[in-house]
Amino acid sequence: MTAYEIIQKKRDGGTLSGEELRFFLAGCLSGDIPDYQAAAFLMAAYLRGMTDEETYLLTKEMIATGDTVDLSRFGELSADKHSTGGVGDKTTLIVAPIAASEGLKIAKMSGRGLGHTGGTVDKLESIPGYRTDLTVPEFLAQAEKAGIAVVGANKALVPADKYLYSLRDVTATVSSIPLIASSIMSKKLAAGAKNIVLDVKYGSGAFMKTAPEAEALARKMIDIGKRFGRNMAAVISNMDRPLGEAVGNALELSEAVDVLRGYKGGDIREISLVLASELIALAKGLTPEEAYARAVDALDSGRAYKQMQTWIASQGGDVGVLASPMARFAEEHTYTVESPVSGYICRMDTEKIGLVSTALGAGRRKKDDVLDLGAGLTILKKTGDRVEKGEPLCVLYTKSPSAPDAARDYLAALHFSQEAPANEPLIYKVIR
Ligand code: URA
Repeated sequence: MTAYEIIQKKRDGGTLSGEELRFFLAGCLSGDIPDYQAAAFLMAAYLRGMTDEETYLLTKEMIATGDTVDLSRFGELSADKHSTGGVGDKTTLIVAPIAASEGLKIAKMSGRGLGHTGGTVDKLESIPGYRTDLTVPEFLAQAEKAGIAVVGANKALVPADKYLYSLRDVTATVSSIPLIASSIMSKKLAAGAKNIVLDVKYGSGAFMKTAPEAEALARKMIDIGKRFGRNMAAVISNMDRPLGEAVGNALELSEAVDVLRGYKGGDIREISLVLASELIALAKGLTPEEAYARAVDALDSGRAYKQMQTWIASQGGDVGVLASPMARFAEEHTYTVESPVSGYICRMDTEKIGLVSTALGAGRRKKDDVLDLGAGLTILKKTGDRVEKGEPLCVLYTKSPSAPDAARDYLAALHFSQEAPANEPLIYKVIR
């Protein structure tokens, strides 16, 4: 068996065996297979696709290249949620406390923001003292004690994904359903949770531009998870507009706390309840309706907020900050973006809005950029809203002098019309 033969087989539309995939991944990681052969393989897989069985085998062999986390001590209650990424997506900060207050054990490894999307780890680091770097034994003890442990990605899990993803990023091979599905699911499965809920986004701020594409990706990931004996569900949700009003780290933490304290409703509360109830339903064998009622009760009774306080304190964070996460960023300058016209907002380019937040200092252009955790934006008007000329659309927060440029870029991300646009649902479908 040679790398050449494997690339050739895939190029010609063949189906690779587990043995071939194992050989190829091992060669990539040892350096025996050079980057140019790995890149050729990725392009062949991108253009030819992979069968369900082949995608499953690729996922399995990717997992086998690294460590795995054993969450069996939590029995049927270990749970994880994964979002395929978006702008203003702070749902983990709300879903985890709701689910844990129902007895689930949320042991979760999260990412940092890169490009236009935010990351949960950065949002949590806007709390002084919060530790995102627990060792695996500390991570397990934290989940046991507080019901929730959320930490940064563990480098020992799925090294093959790190290698392949960095090549996909520069060879135009990211947007392939089998490659995305195996990349995401290898990490989720290695992290060990029995119950996994996926939030698969579509629209202008997501990898998948349409709901049917997002559904195809979700079905592929569910298929892989089920083959590994995990309980799976997926919510296909709209990322044609940012989620909630806040984009930026401390700003999003603040909005999440507002939802948990009952001060805030709207799309962010609704999707958090749906995601939490899907997890509760899977872990406890309840109907979606029963689980949803429990999630609402956890939120409205204040149980979920208490759970968040327990979690943050136990993971080293200053709980006092939760009452007002933006207070310690008082030095941020604010800048109001006003509407240039009267009419309706008919479309928002969500990716561009995420890039505005990055330019303000809330996100990274490069891996090593240092964040301004208080930077970002508060969106006052969204798709479907009527606005008058001169009315505030958004408030920018930044320490950099870039606010006027960011304001111009923000306006370039909005489209106006004289007619009210059709109302797009927040949730396209739930797949169980
Ligand atoms: N996120 C991942 O982890 N992998 C992908 O391929 C795409 C998004």
